[in-house]
Amino acid sequence: MKTCNILRLAALTSSLIFSAGAIAADSFKIGLILPMTGQQASTGRQEEAAARLYMAQHGDTVAGRKIELIVKDDTTVPDMTKRLAQELIVNDKVNVIAGFGITPSAMATAPLATQSKTPMVVTAAATSSITEASPYVVRTSFTLAQASVSVANWAGKNKISKVITLVSDYGPGKDAEKYFSQTFTANGGQIVESLRVPLMNPDFAPFLQKVRDAKPDALFVFVPSGSGASLMKQFIERGMDKAGIKLIATGDVTDDDQLNGMGDGALGVVTGHHYSAAHPSKMNKDFVKAFEKANNGMRPNFMAVAAYDGMHVIYEALKATKGEGDGDALVTAMKGMKFESPRGPISIDPDTRDIVQNIYMRKVEKQHGQLYNIEFDVLKDVKDPGKTK
Ligand code: PHB
Repeated sequence: MKTCNILRLAALTSSLIFSAGAIAADSFKIGLILPMTGQQASTGRQEEAAARLYMAQHGDTVAGRKIELIVKDDTTVPDMTKRLAQELIVNDKVNVIAGFGITPSAMATAPLATQSKTPMVVTAAATSSITEASPYVVRTSFTLAQASVSVANWAGKNKISKVITLVSDYGPGKDAEKYFSQTFTANGGQIVESLRVPLMNPDFAPFLQKVRDAKPDALFVFVPSGSGASLMKQFIERGMDKAGIKLIATGDVTDDDQLNGMGDGALGVVTGHHYSAAHPSKMNKDFVKAFEKANNGMRPNFMAVAAYDGMHVIYEALKATKGEGDGDALVTAMKGMKFESPRGPISIDPDTRDIVQNIYMRKVEKQHGQLYNIEFDVLKDVKDPGKTK
């Protein structure tokens, strides 16, 4: 009798161990690494909210696999991003890594994606070269080249002939400066001066004073999401708009996360970008409504939409591979994917793994008492102009 019980207990224990193993193998893990604190914290807040909204709307089981989202805060420090990615890949055995709030974080992590054959879905960082840093990178955000070329073309056609550029001094800022200047001068425009401000804790004052003294027709700006409000405040305080210097920018500056707090001084600012919370599609209206409802009225910005679409790409790749979860198969399934996003129609270029999307020209206007980027023109299906091959 006693022996029999021991045998039964042993059988029960091994079946418990077996089923625990089976459950662990069944879950599909996404490691989402974002700046939740530090200078880029708004990116983390927006992206986590969007990823969770996507899961709430689409369920947490895909092709028989339970989706587990593991969110890590890299505090906007690239070495930390890399260390967290290493832990997620080696210890947590995640199937996909995603997020990457700034370019240096994405660049530091890309070699790990290659070594471990882990798909790396970049939902924020926007320097063109990131997709070339690993064959496992797939991007759902945008590139500064996409946005800057469209602003340069618009400026050339709108009586702007002398421009000073002002960008954050790192990857995406250098891309913005390069692709704006190249296109603008090819159209006959003149770049009077190219200014670069530090990425961290920038003091815009001395730069703006220089611009005010030089009095170009327009100032073209790129600063990363989260820094636009202080730039705008100092631009207005110096009366630069009243002195006849037009502010033109990538949409990172009139970021929907901050725009409404910038005040009426932001009215009329023209930007080029891929997403506005005011994009007039049914899908976007539903997205904005659901996002605001789930997040105490917070308005989604372009970071949110990139994370929402990043989740979609991961879900659809898992479905296409019938829940298998192999890294190479997932990336293959992501290549060429095409779908409607809250920003409009998008696809993943099968050759570059970068996003192809509409770029909208927008102007800050007041609607229902709130400031929005209102779209007035569109360039359709724009591929990244910044690819070297
Ligand atoms: C980047 O670091 O690549 C980056 C961050 C924020 C932006 C755009 C680009 O708004």
